[in-house]
Amino acid sequence: MDRSFLFVLGSSRPDGNTEQLARTAARRLPSGTEQRWLALRDLPLAPFTDRRHADPAGHTLPAPGSNERLLLDATLDATDIVIASPVYWYSVSSATKLYLDHWSGWLRLPGVDFKQRMARKTYWAVSALAEEDPAYARPLLDTVRYSAEYFGARFAGGLVGVGVDRPGQIMADAETLARARGFFTADATGPLGLRAEAGVSAGVAG
Ligand SMILES: Cc1cc2nc3c(=O)[nH]c(=O)nc-3n(C[C@H](O)[C@H](O)[C@H](O)COP(=O)(O)O)c2cc1C
Repeated sequence: MDRSFLFVLGSSRPDGNTEQLARTAARRLPSGTEQRWLALRDLPLAPFTDRRHADPAGHTLPAPGSNERLLLDATLDATDIVIASPVYWYSVSSATKLYLDHWSGWLRLPGVDFKQRMARKTYWAVSALAEEDPAYARPLLDTVRYSAEYFGARFAGGLVGVGVDRPGQIMADAETLARARGFFTADATGPLGLRAEAGVSAGVAG
């Protein structure tokens, strides 16, 4: 099956370190692999309301043309979902978290089969943070990993750039860029370019 990667950009600023790291990794995707890049800052979502225990008739498809519908359709269409969020306060950015919260609403949309379709996807995380210690990215990586596991899906790994603050600073980190170039291909290894089999916790903390 042809792969189709959705890059969900969670930074509040354009061309940040997370995005540049993700773009470096994506350049090595096999030609013909579809790539779609969506910046959540350009597609603001309404605050999430938990309607799980309310009238099921309230669960309706988001309006055509709305940001929510665009994100829902893009999410459903992808074979691979790359959560590319900087570390904000030891976790994903608020825009990223809001996008994930909306998954809970999408789970209950009639006729969408969101959970079954999300189960067939592969999940990845890319992140950047100011701290030098990659262990501070672990809550973010675990968020993506556990979300994939919730769907019974595969978390393929996390790519983390440390010690970066100014936009573009990551492009001076040759070691991390080298990891990025192997991230989406079979040779990604090591504590900052983890494969799921290596174990995120062990890799990041170790
Ligand atoms: C709201 C906010 C919260 C942040 N929280 C953390 C943090 O908890 N740990 C950390 O190491 N860096 C933190 N940072 C720094 C960013 O992770 C760092 O600057 C990163 O390069 C930003 O990613 P970007 O360039 O992709 O936007 C924070 C920055 C902002 C704006």
